[in-house]
Amino acid sequence: MHPILKTFSIALALTVGVASVQAQAAAAYYEAATKTFRLDGGNTTYAFGVNSRGELQQLYWGGRLAGTDSFPKAEPLGERTSFDSSFNNTPQEYSGWGNGIYVEPALKVSFPDGNRELVLHYVSHKMVANGFDVELKDVAKPIVVVLHYTMDAATGILARSATIENRGTLAVTVEQAAAAAWMLPASHYTLSYLTGRWGSEWTLNQEPVRAGSRVLESRRGSTGHQANPWFALAAGEATEDAGEVWFGALAWSGSWRMVVEQDQANAVRVTGGFNPFDFGFVLHPGQRLETPVFYSGYTQGGMGAASRLLHRFELDRILPRTAGLPEGSRPKPRPVIYNSWEATGFNVSEAGQVALAERAAALGVDRFVMDDGWFGQRKDDHAGLGDWYVNKQKFPNGLKPLIDKVHALGMDFGLWVEPEMVNPNSDLYRQHPDWVLAFPGRPRMEQRNQLVLNLARPDVRAYLFGFLDKVLTENDIAFLKWDYNRNWSQPGWDQLPAGEQKRVYVDYVRNLYSILTELRRKHPKVEIESCSGGGGRVDLGILRLTDEVWASDNTDPYDRLIQQYGFSFAYTPQVMMAWVTDSPHWENQRATTVAYRMLSSMQGSLGIGANISKWGPEDVATAKRLIAAYKQVQPAIAQGDLYRLIAPTGGSAFSATENVKADKSQAVVFAFIHSTIEGYPYPVLKLKGLDPAAEYALTAIEGKADKAVPAVASGAWWMNHGLDLGADFHGDFQAAAFRLDRK
Ligand code: GLA
Repeated sequence: MHPILKTFSIALALTVGVASVQAQAAAAYYEAATKTFRLDGGNTTYAFGVNSRGELQQLYWGGRLAGTDSFPKAEPLGERTSFDSSFNNTPQEYSGWGNGIYVEPALKVSFPDGNRELVLHYVSHKMVANGFDVELKDVAKPIVVVLHYTMDAATGILARSATIENRGTLAVTVEQAAAAAWMLPASHYTLSYLTGRWGSEWTLNQEPVRAGSRVLESRRGSTGHQANPWFALAAGEATEDAGEVWFGALAWSGSWRMVVEQDQANAVRVTGGFNPFDFGFVLHPGQRLETPVFYSGYTQGGMGAASRLLHRFELDRILPRTAGLPEGSRPKPRPVIYNSWEATGFNVSEAGQVALAERAAALGVDRFVMDDGWFGQRKDDHAGLGDWYVNKQKFPNGLKPLIDKVHALGMDFGLWVEPEMVNPNSDLYRQHPDWVLAFPGRPRMEQRNQLVLNLARPDVRAYLFGFLDKVLTENDIAFLKWDYNRNWSQPGWDQLPAGEQKRVYVDYVRNLYSILTELRRKHPKVEIESCSGGGGRVDLGILRLTDEVWASDNTDPYDRLIQQYGFSFAYTPQVMMAWVTDSPHWENQRATTVAYRMLSSMQGSLGIGANISKWGPEDVATAKRLIAAYKQVQPAIAQGDLYRLIAPTGGSAFSATENVKADKSQAVVFAFIHSTIEGYPYPVLKLKGLDPAAEYALTAIEGKADKAVPAVASGAWWMNHGLDLGADFHGDFQAAAFRLDRK
């Protein structure tokens, strides 16, 4: 233990999902003599100190240090030239724009007297569980910033955010506010980030960090398909199994920005939070602005270990637990769902849904979800959004007969909603044309024939909560698929004075979160999926309040392998809903077998979204068998450790993944062939993460291993010698899956 500890906080974190509950210590220390703050968790240490000028200066972020190690007092870096000031060179934890900061500042504020400078110095701090709250104040103005730090004991993932408070007597405008700045010393790094578009989310990009800035952002009012708020910086090349990786994810479902910047001295920082584009949050005297939380972690085990840490953190610290589960337990694996969208489109009816429900139940599905089309005057996407009453032509007796039938078939019932939107052709819009985001006197720009309701308004919030609460109170509903099918284009809020309207970027998202929070409190058994035309709203903010996400509207099983690969860098398979749909696929006319489609979807949380009324007995039998097999191994897949054995990207003919249960008692291997070219064999799969000394029995879920492969062998055998699928595993769009069970 440190010799000159002045204050000390420690907590025990329970690691769940393993047979023996381990305890790991996380600690936050403050060393008064050197004014140094230190956080330890998992394999990570993070430290910063108050330097001689009073700035909060980052000292270290990397592998865990010994408890006896201590840091010298923080000293500002010197001025190199008159163009390279000490202020700009010194790595500040959270710098205002002031004193000649040319790198990305964390905070920029303008004052009514025209002053726009902010120089934040340390004032005080207090210990909180596993962390600190550190108070900074401008050297002259009464602007106070409290930085929040909390370290997760098990993973070493650090949560950072800031509260900005105006303690003066005049209003000020916050023009830019980050949650945190993360700094790394000058070196060569590879940046990984995720981009995409509708139907093509989760493209993994990897490139060297170079001088200047790489901006990752959404200006769309929501998270967006085009970029996801996640990053990873690997020392040198990014490799799957080794090397230092610093990674992070921002918990915000509105416009966001991360700037990855290599400065004039090659130091690298990632500054992220609210997107400053079109931002301007007025703080009246006494008011505060809370930033989103920016989570970041560190590993020496390469990109694979980075995502495993993040998955574990999401399962243990981010995702909501269904009501009734004991404290400290993980959310339960997702039910296998059926969803009607690709089968029926908007053309839903009681008889049609019942027919699908009967088929779904026979396959072993747990949850039947009716998608778009059940409400208002909804025949297609031109009308109905906003009118959340049951369509009487389609459901003359309401939803109850369908829900009762679904229950009688042994499934629970889920319903699609898109609460934040309105079609101009709706009763709601005719009554409240002023409820949408719009600029006065400007033509209203529709996308998919719809406008975005201004959820920042209290009356809109009340309407949304009211109808959702009513639907959930009047019907026995276990699940909502919460959709969001366009981005903002005209974020005006003309009920507020012109100077205040931009707070819509913050208030909208806060109200979204508060509705979800209140609904979950009032209807604790209801689970929610975040969907936005596929994966347009997936981030650690929405995942604190939803149970799963719809990763993409593109359900082609081969395209999905690539998307699921990208998704897995940031998010756990537990939340990744993946449906088996029809073949040939609507997107690309690619024909695949049911088994191939099933195995692709089994990499995440399995769903069926096909027109199963048309399936023949053979496909039904295959799906039924694989759903049953999936349920037996689902905890390992959804909540185990994921190893990406062969990436499907870069035109790879092959891909493979392995999921290992946290206690190493079981592993599941998925192997896919895009196409066998010139007869080249499938690579022998060297498994990972097993207990080398334990014996594991191999069972085929689909396909078979080479005839020379033993039925039982040690973990060492499977990891070193590997699993050979043999010459018979060849062809186009082939798939195989295996389980290994510890004896
Ligand atoms: C979005 C969703 C789809 C489906 C449709 C319904 O595109 O991503 O899964 O629910 O809306 O209109």
